Amino acid sequence: YITRVVHFKMNFVKRLSESRDLNTIPSIYTYTTNPNESPVSNSQDSIPTIDFSLLTSPDPSLRLQVIQELGDACKDWGFFQVINHGVPEDLMNMVVEKSNEFFNLTDEEKKDFEEKDVLDPIRYGTSFNSKKDKVFCWRDFLKVIVHPEFHSPNKPVGFSEIMLEYSKRTREVVRGLLNGISMSLGLDQSCIEKTMKLESGLQIFVVNLYPPCPQPELAIGLPPHSDHGLLTLLINNGVGGLQIKHNGKWVNVNDTFPGSFLVNTADHLEIFSNGKYKSVEHRAIVNNVATRISVVVANGPSLDTVVRPAYELVDEERCPASFVPMKYKEYLEMQQGNQIVGKTCLDRVR
Ligand code: SIN
Ligand code: FE2
Repeated sequence: YITRVVHFKMNFVKRLSESRDLNTIPSIYTYTTNPNESPVSNSQDSIPTIDFSLLTSPDPSLRLQVIQELGDACKDWGFFQVINHGVPEDLMNMVVEKSNEFFNLTDEEKKDFEEKDVLDPIRYGTSFNSKKDKVFCWRDFLKVIVHPEFHSPNKPVGFSEIMLEYSKRTREVVRGLLNGISMSLGLDQSCIEKTMKLESGLQIFVVNLYPPCPQPELAIGLPPHSDHGLLTLLINNGVGGLQIKHNGKWVNVNDTFPGSFLVNTADHLEIFSNGKYKSVEHRAIVNNVATRISVVVANGPSLDTVVRPAYELVDEERCPASFVPMKYKEYLEMQQGNQIVGKTCLDRVR
């Protein structure tokens, strides 16, 4: 045998999009849409809105109502926007601004953070999994594990402090939402929090950068997929591109309240709820005008949690357990270590 060590030179799309006279995209970015792919919706259906402050309202009927709304949003959409969540809008804006500054560092400055392994705590990379992808995504990213151990790049100045504060504040929002979701499933308020060991839950901070693309209809920012973990919180720089699958159609998520969080249900909530709350498929499309930045926090169980359907939601006759138990760490490695295709990762534990 001849062992060849291949040293990849990472081809970032930011750099590519900045090269002069780029009129066509390299063929590796040509994404062929599955012929059975769902159409884009033209309905004016708007995503549900959850008023977070009502979850702790002194009025029990308001609390009950918002829990019901939260349950309906998880069941019917797997996606909703959250308002009155208490995280300062200034902080959210700073997070987007500092994330943008990170990508504006020189190649030399960013080099130290280039990804080597999918479980590295700091990974600056491109596409989804550039070692496995056959078609590349028009996307550069920075992924940082911020909990239970906090990590962060040491540049740009102030990024680390902002990230730490954002990580804490968003975890509070996630805890509040998961408590409400627990109750909407007829469980104790702290059932998810305890079973999933949220105290030491994995939180990953992800920045996605989608530069302008000269042939946006031929490329994809991120192909259709569902997220690992329990709940994902997303904010962006005001440039649209996120689409979610709803009733068999792709719905554009553009007009949302300023300062709100976009939240989606992920695979481990589907497993825990025994299929009652399905993880929502979503994708990111690109455009030829403006750079889109989205900042995502993925919130999951602790890495050592073996996730299985809540026994209260399993009834061997009417609704038997639909998933085999799996350690979150193994699931994460499986999802991050492969190409990302729809819900194929979740299908493996079904
Ligand atoms: C993601 O699915 O992680 C990102 C989607 C987006 O950029 O809107
Ligand atoms: Fe996602």
